[in-house]
Amino acid sequence: MSDVYEASADARSSAFLRSLSEYQALYERSLQDPQELWGELAKQFHWQTPSTGPFMQSNLNPALGRVSVTCMAGATTNVCYNLLDHNISENRLGDKVAIYWEGNCLGDSRKLTYQQLLNDTCRMSNVLTNQGVKKGDRVAVYMPMIPELVITLLACSRIGAVHSVVFAGFSADSLAERIMDAQCCLLVTADGFFRGEKMINLKQIADDALDRCREREKGSKGFSEPKCIVVRHLGVAPGGPGVPNRPYTPAKRPCPNLQTPWQDGRDLWWHEVMHKAHEEAPPVWCDSEDPLFILYTSGSTGKPKGMVHTQAGYLLHTAVSHRLVFDLRPSDVYWCTADIGWITGHSYLVYGPLANGATCLLFEGIPTYPEVDRFWQIIDKYQVTLFYTAPTAIRSLMKHGNEPVLRHSRHSLRVLGSVGEPINPEAWHWYHRVIGGGRCPIVDTYWQTETGGFLLAPMPFATPLKPGSATFPFFGVVPAILNEHGEEMKGEAEGYLVFKQAWPGMARTIYGDHRRYEETYFQKFPGFYFTGDGCRRDSDGYYWVTGRVDDLLNMSGHLLSTAEVEAALGAHPAVVEAATVSCPHSLKGQTLYCFVTLQAGHTFSRTLVAELRQKGKIMRRILRKIASGDPDFGDVTTLADPCVPSALFADRCRTT
Ligand code: WT7
Repeated sequence: MSDVYEASADARSSAFLRSLSEYQALYERSLQDPQELWGELAKQFHWQTPSTGPFMQSNLNPALGRVSVTCMAGATTNVCYNLLDHNISENRLGDKVAIYWEGNCLGDSRKLTYQQLLNDTCRMSNVLTNQGVKKGDRVAVYMPMIPELVITLLACSRIGAVHSVVFAGFSADSLAERIMDAQCCLLVTADGFFRGEKMINLKQIADDALDRCREREKGSKGFSEPKCIVVRHLGVAPGGPGVPNRPYTPAKRPCPNLQTPWQDGRDLWWHEVMHKAHEEAPPVWCDSEDPLFILYTSGSTGKPKGMVHTQAGYLLHTAVSHRLVFDLRPSDVYWCTADIGWITGHSYLVYGPLANGATCLLFEGIPTYPEVDRFWQIIDKYQVTLFYTAPTAIRSLMKHGNEPVLRHSRHSLRVLGSVGEPINPEAWHWYHRVIGGGRCPIVDTYWQTETGGFLLAPMPFATPLKPGSATFPFFGVVPAILNEHGEEMKGEAEGYLVFKQAWPGMARTIYGDHRRYEETYFQKFPGFYFTGDGCRRDSDGYYWVTGRVDDLLNMSGHLLSTAEVEAALGAHPAVVEAATVSCPHSLKGQTLYCFVTLQAGHTFSRTLVAELRQKGKIMRRILRKIASGDPDFGDVTTLADPCVPSALFADRCRTT
């Protein structure tokens, strides 16, 4: 194999893991005695009561009974307490910066130390409690990338409430569907935000969603309309700027004319309720397997699946994998560009890094505003050392050439990361050579919303890298490649990617539908977790994920269901039938190819294409999902192309 990259002896010398054989030895240990290795790793955290059982217990075979996974049975802890209180008291991180916030507009920034983050989180915990939120209750979160979003998640964790984050680019329909599915008792949102030049009136969309919930749940007992807490982010702040200790993040570019719809009795301003709340709140101790959060991901039947993640295993998996795969040092400045609306933001922007006491950068904007060099400018401004982004973002910036990159030094960079889809060799080399100046290893991390944390990933200074391969399994993770008959193939092989045993961070169920969980992940190959991905193992044992083999496709790092798109197209009155398949796309990885049969009397026209694209409500929801906003919205945190809808349909639809 010619295209292999190894770290220099110098770079290796100070890393956690320095050679492939060191990785292999530790990997073997993780399988032979999980208790010993994970038990040791668990010592960095606070356990209110220790675990009484083996490190992991599981049944992955539906024929043998209910599929279940338990990690550290009997232990109690609190994730928020570990991230904040424990890091402050045990590791003396009170004055360390937890979050650098960089707003959409140049010059808009804020920083929070671990102590400040704890104070605000405690206030918010009290706010939630005052609103009647109890352990186990679900809280919907629909917010831009501002510190209050992190504070809200941590506050939920502190009182044992279960957060359900809905990406702020999703429509009112998507939000309503998710609020109802999890029967959320409270919604936390913001008045609005800017993505580049575009203003999003978030509270208006949130109100539409709450209206929809009310309509659909009319008459059904047991559903009461959620309360709504609103961060004033774009609106003009009361008391003007410079109010001491203001517990909210105002944008530099306020919108005095922003119309924020309001319903007295239901809606509450964040700054008002926070102001009245106490700054101390005791953590609520949770069982190791109590739910921590729900996060929805596309399902091949269309209805999104609310993946449920739990406490102890998720905390350990995200923290340990983040530390080792990024070779985290106390002085690092870590930046993950993913939105917290996705699992990457949950695991590797909030939970993993903060558990490790890292300094994290939270960026509200997009890589192309005000100019296409924004990422590189931010890297220099904060001296970012660890940078984690998606191939789709790299490809979209690559097309602007090297000049915007070379305007900035980027000398602080140490490790680069990639996630969301296979990274093509061209993008890999540009990322490595131009962005990283040839100095920085690229950790290609393979995982899923369902897996909670990395399953396949290199150790940056130990694993020789092959562009496009996520290399080898993480500790405690056992991959296998199966053929159509479910037989395991050894050595060089290509087939279905499965995992042979449970790992700490995996999702434990689908909210309210455990049967669907069993059917989706464990029915096809009983006893194995089925990823839905195809994969090849080469003669050196490297894994190469080739992409989805089910009815999902991966567009710009986001999963879409073909069934859902077909249903949306079919809802148009001119359409009899629609069939959708994926096809390769140079920028987005994959795109959709739609075949549409029209009703008699209808002809194919530009207008019809435009209608399919814009008119139908469900279609709009799909398009939002695809474009992560709307066509102009361009959520380029992990998705960069504002012309997705036209790529979907322009000269692609055919009448038959
Ligand atoms: C699907 C999961 C995990 C966070 C982002 C996406 C694809 C993800 C890689 C990678 C090849 C990858 C797979 C997977 N995928 N990372 N490094 N190499 N493919 O989370 O939305 O749950 O999507 O993304 O197809 O199944 P998700």
